[in-house]
Amino acid sequence: MATTITETITEPLRTLRLRPESSEKTEKPNFKGTKYDHDKDAGGNKDDAYPYAWALPTFNNDKYPPLTSFEHKDPGLEALKHENPKEFLANAEVSDLTPRFGADVSGVQLTQLDTRGKQQLAKFVAERGVVVFRDQDFLDQTPEWMLNDWGSFFGRLHVHPTSAHPKDHPEFHLVYRDMSKTFNYEFTDRFTSSVWHSDVTYEEQPPGLTTLFLFDSPASGGDTAYVSQTEAYKRLSPSFRAYLETLEVIHSGVEQANYSRAGNRGGTVRREPVETAHPLVRSHPVTGEKALYVNKQFSRRIVGLKQEESEAILNLLYDHLAKGVDFQVRVKWSPKAVVLWDNRITAHSAIVDFDSAQDGRRHGARITPQAERPFLRKE
Ligand code: SIN
Repeated sequence: MATTITETITEPLRTLRLRPESSEKTEKPNFKGTKYDHDKDAGGNKDDAYPYAWALPTFNNDKYPPLTSFEHKDPGLEALKHENPKEFLANAEVSDLTPRFGADVSGVQLTQLDTRGKQQLAKFVAERGVVVFRDQDFLDQTPEWMLNDWGSFFGRLHVHPTSAHPKDHPEFHLVYRDMSKTFNYEFTDRFTSSVWHSDVTYEEQPPGLTTLFLFDSPASGGDTAYVSQTEAYKRLSPSFRAYLETLEVIHSGVEQANYSRAGNRGGTVRREPVETAHPLVRSHPVTGEKALYVNKQFSRRIVGLKQEESEAILNLLYDHLAKGVDFQVRVKWSPKAVVLWDNRITAHSAIVDFDSAQDGRRHGARITPQAERPFLRKE
């Protein structure tokens, strides 16, 4: 199971830069692979020089009640009414990662966006699937700003049932990998560390616009791969698409919980796992585009089909998603980058191609607002 997975440590800090515009003018380094063993400090003697110590992973045994339903209105819908829905990019440099999937943006500061800007951002990410924003001052903000002013704008914040989180902020989902074994995802029994998934699709209302940023990363490696499930859907033949549109898939959090219950990743299960049926093809509420909605990590079976039929179709789709390099992108992180993706129409995988002990710590946080219950709009 790979949901949270992150990484290690590395060399000394590379550069020191003044934070751009902030009320407190303190310096924060750009980390790039600091050697650090979180476990050695587990007694509480945390790395004092590390300004992101507040975001180091902890596990607690709090118990959370089941999630309840809520009404989600996508902020991107408002942008459909704007005369120029790309106004927020007026001073930005935008390069497409590929013609139809992914973008890399410089020259816009996410923290400066007003309501209108954030609505346009939601629409833009829905259209491009995944967008990298370079040179952000996001890391200079308080955790409260990140969660309440940023994440909550896009939906109700999801609290992960099993993953590590900063001590006082369970709404962050941490990715963490360092020299210690504690948080490391072992893949010695597999050929590859890649685990294609959309986040927590077992929830009744899985996440939509998702934000990920890294505090510290290895000097190279630790990229994130994304696949467009919209493009993947379009590649199928019309008659197969029509059949898939009649199907629902059960998504399950049970194996993830059992993995923790077996003593992995802190051994914590704070909310009982759920299983939910979602349409195999879903529509995006803002763009109207259809996307495949299956992923190997959480999809389990197709409702109403015999086991062999269900497995054959799901495996065909997993292979299609994993092998379609012509509708995938690979995001290379840079210090201060913030990556946003639309979890409804994309799947992703962390790429653990570095050795935590030699190449460095990878430490990041995900803010994961929930969206609407998946639906398929029939023409
Ligand atoms: C995630 O799976 O949500 C995080 C991806 C990453 O660590 O690159």
